[in-house]
Amino acid sequence: MIPAKQYELTEEDFERFRKLISQSSGIFFDRSKRDLLRLGLADRAEATGADTLSQYFDMLTSVPNREIELRRLLDHLSVQETQFFRNLPQFDALRKYVIPEIVRRKVGNFRSLRLWSAGCSTGQEPYTLAMSILDVLPDPDTWNVQILGTDLSDTALAVAKRGWYPEAKLTGLDREHRRRYFREQDGGYVVAEPVRRLVHFSRHNMVTDGLPISIFGTCDVIFCRNVIIYYTHETAKYVIEQFFDILNPGGYLFLGHSETLWKMSAKYSLVEMGDAFIYKKSLPRSMEGRRFIADRRLREGPLPAGVDSDRRQNSNRRNAKQIQDLIKESSADEPLAEAASDGALLSKARTSLDLGDYEKAIECLNEANSRDGGSAEAYFLQGLAFECNNDLEAAIDSFRKTIYCDSTHSLAYFHVANCLERLGRFKSAIREYRSAVKALKKDESTRWEIELDAFDLDSLINLCQWKVENLGSMEN
Ligand SMILES: C[S@@+](CC[C@H](N)C(=O)[O-])C[C@H]1O[C@@H](n2cnc3c(N)ncnc32)[C@H](O)[C@@H]1O
Repeated sequence: MIPAKQYELTEEDFERFRKLISQSSGIFFDRSKRDLLRLGLADRAEATGADTLSQYFDMLTSVPNREIELRRLLDHLSVQETQFFRNLPQFDALRKYVIPEIVRRKVGNFRSLRLWSAGCSTGQEPYTLAMSILDVLPDPDTWNVQILGTDLSDTALAVAKRGWYPEAKLTGLDREHRRRYFREQDGGYVVAEPVRRLVHFSRHNMVTDGLPISIFGTCDVIFCRNVIIYYTHETAKYVIEQFFDILNPGGYLFLGHSETLWKMSAKYSLVEMGDAFIYKKSLPRSMEGRRFIADRRLREGPLPAGVDSDRRQNSNRRNAKQIQDLIKESSADEPLAEAASDGALLSKARTSLDLGDYEKAIECLNEANSRDGGSAEAYFLQGLAFECNNDLEAAIDSFRKTIYCDSTHSLAYFHVANCLERLGRFKSAIREYRSAVKALKKDESTRWEIELDAFDLDSLINLCQWKVENLGSMEN
């Protein structure tokens, strides 16, 4: 769209806008892209009725417009170019080496495969992941495969969710994949159900929203391609460090062909697979044999310069300094029986949870529950501690007690369902996901703002509904 009005971008406004955009999305406009930025801003300024770009900036940063218009602007400025099987050697490596290796590792264990396409644009990448898995996974029906596609662009996600593409957008797709995994519809092609049911889409901003661990769990493979290329080095480094926390040990990170971790992170090793180079999360020896639990409440990492701290201050996550304080506070070992009040016990339990000391959290919560016969809050925290400690049966028991104390505790329903799913009890999990949907729909949108952190209530409801529809195929 060419704006009818001529909008000028002063030097001062260029600096203000690019700082705001970089802070809230990672996307950085260097000087060579100044005119591109001006045109994008002019479109949105015209659409909102602003007379100048300065006026538009004020509108953009003033409450209550901030969130909505900023979302539209980022949507408008992001580059959404993508295609099916983009960079084919990477998908060859995925099919030939990565999936078989993960499958071998998981034989005999709970058969789940989780892949995250971060910055998935209009969906071609996560659908390609699903097709690749179906191409090579033996007995896919006996596996719990989940692919999460996330993006900050609402318009891209709407296309992705619809899963319909005109012929011109099928570039990269060979005849066989088109025949097997697409159906002709309305003059174009729609992704077939067996592919579609493996993929779930959600709005998520990887720079400001933290990791989707509490919702998605940890994952085996991350595709984040052609995204960090638009970021400053610092922001890219921050995002890559975050990925390390959500990747399972031995998990793989795929970047775009012009993106590298050189000078960014030494935690990954670079592996050559066929014609592709892929990063692998290798574990320090001391951690081998131990299940690595990435805990979003603990792993904050430093903020890249300029990353929006507002959101973070509102969230329940903690920065490094706060974590140091917590360690000091928790090591002052007061006997539990002498902890002044139930409130003090709960706060001690929360601190221990934040520090990853689940045994101690459980001890505090046992004491709190024995004192007053238990409260929904104490049982819920106890459930989380058991869940993080991988004692899923005990976690389910505590979450059920939470519901007994507070039948509207929708997050407890969600966690019961999640634990049942992790135990492979899909039929019961589906029943509980249904209850979670029912309960969540009755909640005020802000009820779980702190607990959900990176996700909003609607995303959680969508996820539960998706599980209800798709876990059925996992039941033998
Ligand atoms: C060029 S596309 C890449 C699509 C796909 N990964 C591929 O390689 O074909 C970049 C996508 O990243 C998304 N993106 C950029 N910054 C993001 C952020 N902070 N959080 C989520 N998505 C982001 C953009 O909206 C855009 O859809």
